[in-house]
Amino acid sequence: MAIVLTGIKPTGDLHIGNFLGAIEPALKNAIGQNSYFFIADLHALNQEKDPQKIHQYTLSVAAAWLASGLDPQKIVFYRQSDIPQVSELTTLLAAVTQKSLMNKAHAYKAARDENLQKKRDPDAGINMGLYTYPILMAADILLLQTDLVPVGQDQVQHVEITQDIAQNFNRTYNQNTFTIPQYFIQPDLATVPGIDGRKMSKSHNNTIPLFTTPDIWEKVVKRIVTDSDISDPKNSPLFLIYKAVAPKPQSQNLLSDLENKRIGWKEAKDRLLEAIITRFGDMSQNYFDWLNSPQKIEAIFTQSKEKVIPLAQKTLESAQKACGLIS
Ligand code: TRP
Repeated sequence: MAIVLTGIKPTGDLHIGNFLGAIEPALKNAIGQNSYFFIADLHALNQEKDPQKIHQYTLSVAAAWLASGLDPQKIVFYRQSDIPQVSELTTLLAAVTQKSLMNKAHAYKAARDENLQKKRDPDAGINMGLYTYPILMAADILLLQTDLVPVGQDQVQHVEITQDIAQNFNRTYNQNTFTIPQYFIQPDLATVPGIDGRKMSKSHNNTIPLFTTPDIWEKVVKRIVTDSDISDPKNSPLFLIYKAVAPKPQSQNLLSDLENKRIGWKEAKDRLLEAIITRFGDMSQNYFDWLNSPQKIEAIFTQSKEKVIPLAQKTLESAQKACGLIS
């Protein structure tokens, strides 16, 4: 069985596009593999300086994945900062990593380019955590001898940097200390339009929240843009959202009812609201239940820690041997 590992950044509220396009496919692919999912709370420190938010986001992202169907008996679900070996390995990897490799990493480059464009000091507001982000990520991946890293397009470069770092280490010490990981881009990710027809995204402010209550969903659904004439329902945001949420036969029904003018947008919105509640209502309730029992989430992290630490320690020791720290 392949070792599959992925890190999840603890961030704010999720929307149904996150679930349909990323969370659900990631969970489907993880089943039947030796899978490890973790909350990347150390990575989050680079951006977030409010301790309460770090704590709160970690819990809410964990609650989100558990409510979305992550079964901690099937997928080891841990918190990055519970595994001290991650930080220890980061130091060893930094010693074999060229600075020039970090200069190329796109999160850093983007921040630097923005500074240049705004005629600021090129390094303004850039901390070392952001600069060395790919080394920490390499430690996450290499520590568990990961074979496969499922990622979105934006993380491919990070996995390529991890391959470079692993090869450098293996070559430098003439040992096969680390498995060289491969990335895996999930094919055919559903892209869900937002309520204004553009791609659903927090930055566009056009999202449908994943975990909320029916009254909020109702308000959001009302705001979905619709043409005054229903000439092309097939490409309307309303239908495309419905198609992503409802079972296929139901979306075929909705389409033919709209095309044949048996119903108008108002009825279509009512049906969408119903479909959203059917699909995400119980899940939302579950999410709030998890959030209200943070001790249950902590118990999962404690259990996982006991599984991950021995594996992490084994890799760390072989890296320490390779570079001469221990014999
Ligand atoms: N950088 C990833 C993101 O921004 C999160 C992450 C951290 C990760 N460590 C990882 C992903 C290891 C895959 C493997 O989404």
